[in-house]
Amino acid sequence: MPSSVRPAARLRGRLEVPADKSIAHRALIINALAGGPATVEVRSPGEDVLSTAACLRALCVTVDASTDGAVTRFHLSGSPTRDATLDCGNSGTSMRLLAGALAGLPLRVVLDGDASLRSRPMERVASLLRATGAEVTTTDGHAPMTVAGRSRLTAATHRLPVASAQLLGAACLAGSGAEGETRIESPGSTRDHTERMLAAAGVPIRRDGLVTTIEGPARPRPLSLAVPGDLSSAAPWLVAGALHPDADITIAGVGLNSTRTALVDVLRHAGADIEATLTDAAGPEPTGNLRVRGGRPLDPVRIAGAAVAPLIDELPLLGIVMAVAGGELRDAAELRVKESDRIAAMIAGMGAIGASVEELPDGWRVSPGVARDARIATHGDHRIAIAFAVAALTGVARSVELDDPACVAVSYPTFWTDLAAVAS
Ligand code: S3P
Repeated sequence: MPSSVRPAARLRGRLEVPADKSIAHRALIINALAGGPATVEVRSPGEDVLSTAACLRALCVTVDASTDGAVTRFHLSGSPTRDATLDCGNSGTSMRLLAGALAGLPLRVVLDGDASLRSRPMERVASLLRATGAEVTTTDGHAPMTVAGRSRLTAATHRLPVASAQLLGAACLAGSGAEGETRIESPGSTRDHTERMLAAAGVPIRRDGLVTTIEGPARPRPLSLAVPGDLSSAAPWLVAGALHPDADITIAGVGLNSTRTALVDVLRHAGADIEATLTDAAGPEPTGNLRVRGGRPLDPVRIAGAAVAPLIDELPLLGIVMAVAGGELRDAAELRVKESDRIAAMIAGMGAIGASVEELPDGWRVSPGVARDARIATHGDHRIAIAFAVAALTGVARSVELDDPACVAVSYPTFWTDLAAVAS
């Protein structure tokens, strides 16, 4: 695994990226609530998805994994039946979704994680679960968080304090175990995988604009599925292809759910050449191929307001686009409470690779400079490592030395082999 990355002369190839981790977490958790049996197929599962599988095993769910090349099949049976202390590792999605799912079961569970996860806000999810009757305590607003669930919760109306798919997902999972109509109002649109999957598993759930309603209690039915590729792991190649003067990359089998494809729209709007072909629209999650060709100059990029939440995991990569094309990010204070403070990490890194940067409380303003050799502090954050690898691959940086190249494995364990495959 290289700790330093240099510009490639050209980028070519066809990739299949890891399965969508948002969908994979939900598929494992919803099938555990269903009691199985079900099989969930996940290409190249990252550490976050493995954390969810390990947590379910600790709760006494049988999760057998078999591998076939790059694909892991998780065979699930049984429901959570044991009190446990769960290690969610680096994964905020595991912690928040499991808290929601476990609120409706008569178990006492402690949810914990690594130092990064222990620093992230958990009071938001705790207070919304308390409104349903579960007993939830945090450690000064953080993990470790204890959830003492109840077999019958009370339906509630939730007004989410931020547009967050993890919070919305936790409220939906708790709502499926609550008596009556749960109503969840979000201040902005976010990925809708929980709603799609619960609906496919027979739970009466509807999203209408920014309001989601669930009629409970309704136990999901088991649902076997092959999880499509992760748009957020296709993202580095879309950005690399758009920035590189000589690029032609196809990413096959990617989830094209419209709540996830905002990056494609932003890059196209800036002038990038990206072609999307739908290959499977039958299941709950549409799937297709993306082809990006380089060599076009890009216009400045401005992201603010409602555009932020649907791009939340792609904002570090858009920082790299802005380091060449110029641009501004506002209304993205949520980035400060991701796996690292991503505003601070991007400001330091974009400055180090030669861009002119201004830090804002909720974002940044960036204009291009002269590409430099840079050492990048990743803070163990996969999205920061991947963003600066793309900066170097495309010549936005002259070269980049990452302090922790292995941290990409949280979401994208095959990132370095895919980089070697497309670069020449
Ligand atoms: C996720 C939601 C997003 C995203 C995370 C995965 C999910 O967080 O950052 O990587 O699977 O629900 P938000 O809760 O901020 O939307």
